Amino acid sequence: MMMDVSNAKKRILELSQELNELNHKYYILNVSEVSDYEFDMKLKELQDLETQFPDLALAHSPTKRVGGDITDKFPKVRHNSRMLSLSNSYNKEEIEEFIERANKLAGRELEYVCELKYDGVAISIIYENGTFVRAVTRGDGEVGEDISANVKTIKSIPLSLSGDFPELFEIRGEIFFPLHKFQALNASRKAQGEPEFANPRNTASGTLKMQDSSVVAERELDSYLYFLLGDNLNIPTHSERIEKAGSWGFKVPSEIRNMIRKCGSVEQIMEFIEYWDKARHQLPFEIDGIVIKVNSIQDQEELGFTAKSPRWAVAYKFKAEQVFTRLNEVTYQVGRTGAVTPVANLEPVLLAGTTVKRASLHNSDQIEKLGLYLGDTVFVEKGGEIIPKIVGVDVSRRANSAVKVEFITACPDCDTPLERLEGEAQHFCPNRYECPTQVKGRIEHFISRKAMNIDGMGNETVEQLFEAGLIQNAADLYTLKEEDLLPLERMAQKSVDNLLQGIEASKQVPFERVLFAIGIRYVGETVAKKLARHFKSMSNLLKADQEALILVDEIGERIAQSIIEFKSVPSNQELVDALAAHGLIMEIEEQELASNVLEGKTVVVSGTFNTVSRNELKALIEANGGKVGSSVSSKTSILVRGENMGPSKLKKAEDLGIKMLSEEDFLSMIG
Ligand code: IVH
Repeated sequence: MMMDVSNAKKRILELSQELNELNHKYYILNVSEVSDYEFDMKLKELQDLETQFPDLALAHSPTKRVGGDITDKFPKVRHNSRMLSLSNSYNKEEIEEFIERANKLAGRELEYVCELKYDGVAISIIYENGTFVRAVTRGDGEVGEDISANVKTIKSIPLSLSGDFPELFEIRGEIFFPLHKFQALNASRKAQGEPEFANPRNTASGTLKMQDSSVVAERELDSYLYFLLGDNLNIPTHSERIEKAGSWGFKVPSEIRNMIRKCGSVEQIMEFIEYWDKARHQLPFEIDGIVIKVNSIQDQEELGFTAKSPRWAVAYKFKAEQVFTRLNEVTYQVGRTGAVTPVANLEPVLLAGTTVKRASLHNSDQIEKLGLYLGDTVFVEKGGEIIPKIVGVDVSRRANSAVKVEFITACPDCDTPLERLEGEAQHFCPNRYECPTQVKGRIEHFISRKAMNIDGMGNETVEQLFEAGLIQNAADLYTLKEEDLLPLERMAQKSVDNLLQGIEASKQVPFERVLFAIGIRYVGETVAKKLARHFKSMSNLLKADQEALILVDEIGERIAQSIIEFKSVPSNQELVDALAAHGLIMEIEEQELASNVLEGKTVVVSGTFNTVSRNELKALIEANGGKVGSSVSSKTSILVRGENMGPSKLKKAEDLGIKMLSEEDFLSMIG
């Protein structure tokens, strides 16, 4: 029997969360809580539900990790030549063996190229006549997924080339999450009460599999290209190919910065490896080793492949750095949403190029798992994660008198007893509306750049105004007067003017950002946009019940419940009313919608256009009430066909009988 949509959505969410947690525990924390059989049964149940209700599958569904990285969300494409992996080596002897074998097979001493082994997601991109045609994931090596729409958002990947490029070629490389972007994303997730992502590689991979390419664009992934393939390219060495690719517009490793180097001996190769084993910590992205390749393409062809990897290349993998140090104290941080996070305070120690003083402990379960005692000697590792983690304890060095770390029972800020909801790993301070950290945190979020963007005001100002008793909530900002502010420390006339102007100007901020700013748990920027577009006004949104909320694209039970809870609290309702009374924008402004000719329609744009850019076209779709789709599927209502559209997309649209319009026809349709 088929489940109804609401139950299916609930169960999919439940299973996805549970499986993702089990995966996290298994792969990151090395703990297996259930048998393989139990895990597989749950996964199968989820797969079945996602097959019945494909639209309900979550962007980060654990089913996407099964069997390579093939999902059923993107068109499948067979690679022209298999995307193989590299065999790994871990020491000088293994590198020597590789070089000896290759030189012996070639019958002479070959030239090699060393380059970085980028820790990201492999991608294959086809270009024809200097134009991006399609980008495909590695998949199972033979068949990958067409994720062109997402890859096209990556600025370092050119959509059209310059110079003397070949007519048709394939280029492969790695897409990765730059570290500072990853940190910023996690900081904003934390502020939002969302769980943080574990590491940049998995997050890059998850991001590339998202349905909404505008979210991909926001995350600002980056790339390096490392492999050029094609017939009759007439470029005889790998190093020249990489250089050429650079001249056509690709991001390739810089020789000047020693990111790529020709080597004639094992000594030179080891020098390169040793250099990067240290210098890698200064790079703005992660690498997990070095790749050594035979430089001449003819030699590469003669050496050929084994079943799994080329005989002309090998990877050298760096060891994850580990040190031991003393656990001095466990302290607790309260976030804006009340989530309490334990932090290990360590005896400072040098690890992977930086001094480590703190390590994240995530939640009370992890403290339990590690069985921590104060003063313990702990092993700290910096693997794929940015924040170091404690991976183990040397129990033999524990003092007899050592005291076990017990998770706190009351909020460190307001002393309210903590709560832990069923099925959640995190403890919360339930005193949402009076706990000073939470109150200040919400105002800090309200004024932040992506929310109300109040110029002239920072977190210190919030602290100062709160301490002075001038603000209790965000609406109080709009009652501030010059005479309240001037007596405060560091508040000269100019800063008071700036602050008041900034507050006044924030009254022009559009509704979707006001909605984000009021800080409903789990309502991040993207969700706020979706809700604003769907409900059009704050009053409509606050009238909606659970059923109405989960009908909105990408809104699940968890977000819906959070909105319901928000509006059930009288002080929230008062806050919203007060903000409206102060003149903040509480609805989508009329002129934003030019027409509703596309209402209820999902429109996909593909190819290149003459009179408007792709982004303008997307804006026009939304302005006329439509929804922009990222890939052709049975949900697509219209495909706007530009020039040089990928053949697989075209075929898929034809097979599904989707209405196709040229740029001109589409523009005349929306008037
Ligand atoms: S060359 C035929 N070069 O490492 C093999 N791969 O296990 C061609 N990778 O799947 C790959 N940096 O995703 C090559 N400079 C680099 C690389 C690199 C990272 C990845 C790639 C591949 C995996 C090999």
